[in-house]
Amino acid sequence: MSDNNTRRPVLYSGIQPSGRIHLGNYAGPMQNFLLLEKDYDCLFCVVDLHALTIRNTPADLRRQTMELAALYIASGLDPKQSIIYCQSHVPEHAELAWVLNCYTYMGELSRMTQFKDKSSRHKDNINAGLFTYPTLMAADILLYQTDVVPVGADQKQHLEITRDIAERVNALYGDVFRVPEPYIPKTTAKIMSLTEPERKMSKSDEEDSFVAVLDAPDVIRRKFKRAVTDSLAEVRYDPENQPGVSNLLAILSATSGTGIETLVNEMAGQGYGILKERTTEAVIERLKPLQAEYARLMKDKVYLNEVLKDNAQRASALAQRTLRKLYKKIGLYQL
Ligand code: TYM
Repeated sequence: MSDNNTRRPVLYSGIQPSGRIHLGNYAGPMQNFLLLEKDYDCLFCVVDLHALTIRNTPADLRRQTMELAALYIASGLDPKQSIIYCQSHVPEHAELAWVLNCYTYMGELSRMTQFKDKSSRHKDNINAGLFTYPTLMAADILLYQTDVVPVGADQKQHLEITRDIAERVNALYGDVFRVPEPYIPKTTAKIMSLTEPERKMSKSDEEDSFVAVLDAPDVIRRKFKRAVTDSLAEVRYDPENQPGVSNLLAILSATSGTGIETLVNEMAGQGYGILKERTTEAVIERLKPLQAEYARLMKDKVYLNEVLKDNAQRASALAQRTLRKLYKKIGLYQL
C-alpha cells in the first residue's frame, strides 16, 4: 500500500465464505482482481461476519474461511502487496457498521432485493443482520476510502446504497468518505445456473447448477454435459432468447480470453456439442494452475495464518484513520 503522498486508487472486494466458490464468483469479479492489482492498492476480504446472516456449522465456516483466503492467494494475488484478510479480524468493520446504521433508513434497507430474496428463502431466520447487511458492506468499503469495487451485477444495489450513505454523511460533516464506483464486467456480470439458465449461478443451489472452482476435471465435464441449452441449434449470443447457450459463451470467453463475437463466428453452423466441449476444456485449463497452487497452500497453514495476521494489522491501521476522522467529525468525545 502506498502512503498518502503517492496515493494510488484503492480497490476493495469481498466474498462470503458461506459455501463453495464457483465460476460466477471467479469469472465475474475474481478473475479481474489480478489485472487490477497492477493499478490499484487492493484489499480482498473474506467477509465472515456477513456469512453469519445465514446459519452455518461453525466448523464449516472456519474451514471455508481458510479455503477462501487460500483461493485469493492461489489466484495469483500477492499478499505482500494486496491486503488479503478476514473481516472479523479487523474490529473497525463492526464499529463503523454501527455508526452507519444510524445514518441509514429502514425504508432504504427494506427495498434491497437481496434482503427480500433471502428473507423469503430463509423464513425461519429473518434476522436483523440480514436486514442491516448492506450497512456492514458499506462499512467494509468506506473504511478504506475505496475508489472502485469490482462485483457482480447482484451487488449493484448494495453499491448504490453505499454511495448514498457516503454522500449523506459527507453532506452533514464535510469530506469524510470517498464515494466509491462499482466495477461490473459486461459479459460476466451475471453468470447463470447451468441447469436453470434464467437464474444466476449460486452456491446455495443444487450441485449440478454450478461449477465450483475446486471441482475435479471429471466433475466439470459431467456438469457441462448436463448443462441446459435449447432447441434452436444455433450458437448465438442472445441472453434473452438463448440464456443457456449465451451463458456457455460468456464462460468460454472469460476463461479462454477470446471475445464472444469471435467465438460465435468460429462455431457458426456447428451444434452445441462443440460449444460444450470447448467450454469444458477452457474451464479445466483455466482452473488447473489455481487448483494446484491452492492444494500447495492448504498444506501450509502456518504461512496462511501469518498472511492473515499481518494483513489484518495492515487493514486495521488504515481503517483506524477513517474511523478516527469520522468519530471526531460526528462529535464522539476524543481522549
Ligand atoms: P458473494 O459472496 O455472494 O459473491 C462474491 C462476488 O461474486 C459475485 N457473484 C457473481 N458474479 C457473476 N455471476 C454470478 N452468478 C455471481 N454470483 C456471485 C458477487 O457479485 C460478488 O462480487 N455482499 C457480497 C460480499 C461483500 C462485498 C463487500 C463485496 C461484502 N462486503 C464489499 C464487495 C465489497 C456478497 O455477498 O458476495
